[in-house]
Amino acid sequence: MTYTLIDGKKVSADIKNEISQKVAERKAQGRKIPHLAIILVGDDGASQTYVDNKVKSCKSVGFHYTMMRFADTISEEKLLKHIDHVNNDDDVDGFIVQLPLPPHISVDRVTEKIRSDKDVDGFTNHNFGSIISKNPLLMPATPFGVMELLRRYNIETEGKHAVVVGASRIAGAPLSMMLTEQGRATVTICHKFTKDLGSYTRSADILLVAVGKPGLITADMVKEGAVVIDIGTTRVEGPQYPKGWAIQGDVDFKAVAPKTSYITPTPGGVGPMTIASLLLNTLRATELQHP
Ligand code: GUN
Repeated sequence: MTYTLIDGKKVSADIKNEISQKVAERKAQGRKIPHLAIILVGDDGASQTYVDNKVKSCKSVGFHYTMMRFADTISEEKLLKHIDHVNNDDDVDGFIVQLPLPPHISVDRVTEKIRSDKDVDGFTNHNFGSIISKNPLLMPATPFGVMELLRRYNIETEGKHAVVVGASRIAGAPLSMMLTEQGRATVTICHKFTKDLGSYTRSADILLVAVGKPGLITADMVKEGAVVIDIGTTRVEGPQYPKGWAIQGDVDFKAVAPKTSYITPTPGGVGPMTIASLLLNTLRATELQHP
């Protein structure tokens, strides 16, 4: 079967262009320019790379941004106080606390401290719950990006069987809710306790995988003509890679792709959409607070 490659890089570039135009319009009208703040604790290499990309993207669309760095020895109390300060800073429209955090700091307490209307990662309980409301506030960035890819490629979800593998709070769980609520799909959620995973994945019209285990989904687990969305991103090290490492998805792309109708590559599929969603959320947060 010939399949269509879902080009997340291109869609993300299109979205950035659309956002740049909106920023230019706001500027021309004398309205507030979106301002994203990024809180980074410690010096984790992968986090630094992600944050650098977020800063680059802010610059490319004309957003204002502020980097806030703290040593990994900062106390939870101090970090929470700082979050409160940013919550009350009228100039910052949206902010994120880059994860992971050092083990002495509670991710739950930090996340819940973020004001929901500035939570541009969409991580707070309020924003998680608002997915099933009529008017969602700020949607979790990764699943929002996946829904946007399906929408822009005109992939029908209504009445389809979507199988989501992985039930994490930042990807699988909210994605399942969005596919049900906005996508009107029939959704099956599989996770690490699922027995005989293949018996579920083989019945998927749309298979979405967010686990973080390279090679988990093999060709025999995919129905002929299925749509496959690979959300996993694992940094695999090895001398065969030019940079000494490479990003791998959860799907054995080479073997699976010929069986599909649409498939995302890794890298270049869902990954670039996460930042596009962050920018869309930041613009929306600005529009909500400074119409
Ligand atoms: N760490 C890895 N991905 C993300 C993300 O999307 N947001 C935050 N805050 N931290 C992350």
